[in-house]
Amino acid sequence: MKLDLTILVGTMTGTAQLVAQELELTLEDEHTRVQTRLMDGLDAGVFNGGGLFLVCTSTYGQGDVPDNAKGLYGALQTARPDLSRVRYGVIALGDRTYAETFCNGGKRFDAILAELGAIRIGEPLLHDASAGTLPEEAAVQWAGPWIDRCRETLTLAA
Ligand SMILES: Cc1cc2nc3c(=O)[nH]c(=O)nc-3n(C[C@H](O)[C@H](O)[C@H](O)COP(=O)(O)O)c2cc1C
Repeated sequence: MKLDLTILVGTMTGTAQLVAQELELTLEDEHTRVQTRLMDGLDAGVFNGGGLFLVCTSTYGQGDVPDNAKGLYGALQTARPDLSRVRYGVIALGDRTYAETFCNGGKRFDAILAELGAIRIGEPLLHDASAGTLPEEAAVQWAGPWIDRCRETLTLAA
């Protein structure tokens, strides 16, 4: 079974996009098709029909989602679609300097997706920009076992 993964990117200064590009290079193979989409202009319809998604987003302001993610996040809050056919993972980029709101952008997406019935696979990756590790390297390490777990879960469900 070929896995179809859509990476949704919320970013202000391009880090999350770079992470998604690395993931696409690493995960795309004969078993996995990867499509990366910036969140700009997306609404809740991106989840129509369900499927496997990886939300890869940074955090800004008072623990907010980045500007290009506000439309999609707001649409989920107002449209409240049934996302029970959605499976997802979360890569949250943040900085522990912002102790109160660390990685809240990703945490917010995790919360709204779960609230709408989507089922998360695995624990979110929370990346700390102050930790001295490169987010794209941390993401690639995290994503190997994650995609294996997705394959197991989705094959069992099929
Ligand atoms: C103005 C500003 C506000 C930020 N606010 C937060 C925050 O509240 N919580 C957090 O964990 N990280 C915060 N960050 C850190 C970013 O989320 C982090 O650097 C991330 O890697 C940036 O990714 P991007 O280039 O994809 O936007 C902030 C960064 C800036 C520049």
